[in-house]
Amino acid sequence: METNSNANNNHGEYIVIKAKDHGVQVIGLTRGQDTKFHHTEKLDKNEIMIAQFTNHTSAIKIRGKAIVMTKYGTMETDQ
Ligand code: TRP
Repeated sequence: METNSNANNNHGEYIVIKAKDHGVQVIGLTRGQDTKFHHTEKLDKNEIMIAQFTNHTSAIKIRGKAIVMTKYGTMETDQ
């Protein structure tokens, strides 16, 4: 059984974020008792980030104008 910190116990859903402005932030929030920012990634206009939910990341917050594609559909942060 995989027990190391890279194990991904099947919350490995990918999302796609496409920045529509300079300086869009993709913020990862920790899984577990504490909900804290653990990483902030800055995207320039038209940059794309493909991200997963992992053992460390239970939520992803997006600041700024972006298109977000998930299995629930595609949405824009300003709509
Ligand atoms: N080290 C982080 C993790 O494994 C990297 C990461 C994954 C991340 N998904 C993210 C960072 C989403 C920010 C947003 O969980």
